[in-house]
Amino acid sequence: MSPKVDLYDNAYRNHESAIYRAVRIETYGEDFGQTSWVTTQESNEIPRLLGLRSDSFVLELGCGSGGYTLHLGETVGCRLIGVDINQPGVRNANLLAQSRGLASRVHFELCDASKRLPFDDNTFDAVFSNDVLCHLPGRPEVLVEMFRVLKPGGRVLFSDALVVGGIVSHEEIATRSSIGFYMYSPPGENERLMERAMFRDIRAKDTTESAARIAKRWHDARKKREDELVAAEGSANFEGLQRFLSCVHLLTNEKRLLRYLYVANKEHTPLGHSVVPAQFVSTDQLS
Ligand SMILES: C[S@@+](CC[C@H](N)C(=O)[O-])C[C@H]1O[C@@H](n2cnc3c(N)ncnc32)[C@H](O)[C@@H]1O
Repeated sequence: MSPKVDLYDNAYRNHESAIYRAVRIETYGEDFGQTSWVTTQESNEIPRLLGLRSDSFVLELGCGSGGYTLHLGETVGCRLIGVDINQPGVRNANLLAQSRGLASRVHFELCDASKRLPFDDNTFDAVFSNDVLCHLPGRPEVLVEMFRVLKPGGRVLFSDALVVGGIVSHEEIATRSSIGFYMYSPPGENERLMERAMFRDIRAKDTTESAARIAKRWHDARKKREDELVAAEGSANFEGLQRFLSCVHLLTNEKRLLRYLYVANKEHTPLGHSVVPAQFVSTDQLS
């Protein structure tokens, strides 16, 4: 059994550290405080995929230390709420909102996103979540909650890096799960559950190859700074996280674990080709 490894506490507590920042820049190109498999290209596509405008009101589930939420607040000019279960993440996110002068439009709350969300029905124009749903028990209910808090015509986007694409051993599952609670899903299940939650115009894009690239770059960027990272997080944790990142790279590179990005609407208002690139496959035919 793989020993428990911490990723998020260290990443969010050390968010401002030059070493952690250098790792993020080398991994992603642009620093939004990421702890996920989202490429900068995907980060830049999200506002268009969600149809965000300056008058949009947006919810991010699992916002981590808030860097990307604040980036949207700055570049799109919309109002956002980010929620996460990690205390250092939410604390850091609210401090950043204040220091960047965005606190009147962007704020962050501590919240377990696997429970009923603390928002009224039909509140948000868009709800999104990058690489978080795999951490939440009760996916059918989570999707129903995302649907409930969206306004009619609102748009949802989320990614799942744990779609099972091939044979995976119990050791690999243990290492891949060593940083926390995880749910693995079979291909097609997210689409089926979104359909059941009443989402429409469901599209999915396979982003496995870019997830494999991110895992490799993240691993190598940390390796280069081993001494400083061991000093910050301890050698057992450093090694554990390196094993985790190697495992993500291996499994996604061999397509035994797949990462998919999903977009859909709260009601039937076709997303259109200008919004959703052709690589997104429509799954509206599901029954
Ligand atoms: C892979 S990270 C993604 C963070 C951020 N979205 C990004 O793209 O960098 C997963 C995030 O989910 C959060 N998380 C895990 N379980 C959660 C829960 N039950 N409720 C809310 N957030 C949760 C973690 O604290 C972490 O910040």
